[in-house]
Amino acid sequence: MQKLVEWMKQSQCTVALTGAGMSTESGLKDFRSKDGWWRGIDPSTVATVDALTGNYELFHEFYKVRIDSFRSAQPHDGHRILAAWERAGRLHSVITQNVDGFHHQAGNKRVRELHGSIRSFRCQHCGTSAEEEDFLSKIPCTSCGGPLRPNVVLFGEMLPQVPWQEAIADLKQAELVFVIGTSLQVSPVNQLPSLTRGKVVYINVDTEGGGHYFDLVVQGKAKGVLQQLDGWLNKT
Ligand code: OAD
Repeated sequence: MQKLVEWMKQSQCTVALTGAGMSTESGLKDFRSKDGWWRGIDPSTVATVDALTGNYELFHEFYKVRIDSFRSAQPHDGHRILAAWERAGRLHSVITQNVDGFHHQAGNKRVRELHGSIRSFRCQHCGTSAEEEDFLSKIPCTSCGGPLRPNVVLFGEMLPQVPWQEAIADLKQAELVFVIGTSLQVSPVNQLPSLTRGKVVYINVDTEGGGHYFDLVVQGKAKGVLQQLDGWLNKT
């Protein structure tokens, strides 16, 4: 903690890269842990364009269940600490693979949502935006009759270019990068930590980290580690 506090104080640009493990303490499942989504469901059957066009029933059911699980969930103290750090000028931005919108909800302004958002919807055919209720009720697009979908990135789709370019720029200027709650198994996001010349700190309950190099590994849950670090930061 002492070393981390020193690094934070020295860093002119600190960035956080988060994954699904950032939100498990809010009650959301991650993907690859013991109880994660992909332990019970093959992602190719629900999280691809083929799934959307070939088996809309299953695709729809998967996202409906996830939207329902988000309904009662809220950002936790770890999210709020990242937001407070941004307000205090201690954190430049959050780059996230999460679609839950919790970093925005907690108050972060510079959030690079690389896998989109499950909070907004559009037509797969014409791109017209749609309401959540229409998606949940399986109503087709009012403009063209096409199937509605959440604005998440499906496997095989391009990442949204604006946040992707912002994320690359952030990593290039970062002097310190916190990689929090991600298995770093999904490309291209897992290539981002190698773009920085700064120090990379991995915070995770599991310390494998997909074979990447880290300057420091902190084994623990995101919320507790961030609370501890924030406590140290405020008292020194
Ligand atoms: P994963 O499920 O692959 O990884 C979550 C990581 O968080 C694991 O390494 C867990 O050990 C760790 N973890 C779980 N709870 C934690 C906690 N409370 N504190 C700290 N660490 C914790 O999720 P992602 O790496 O985010 O993409 O997955 C990346 C992408 O794969 C997702 O965005 C999604 C998925 O398929 C698409 O659907 C396109």
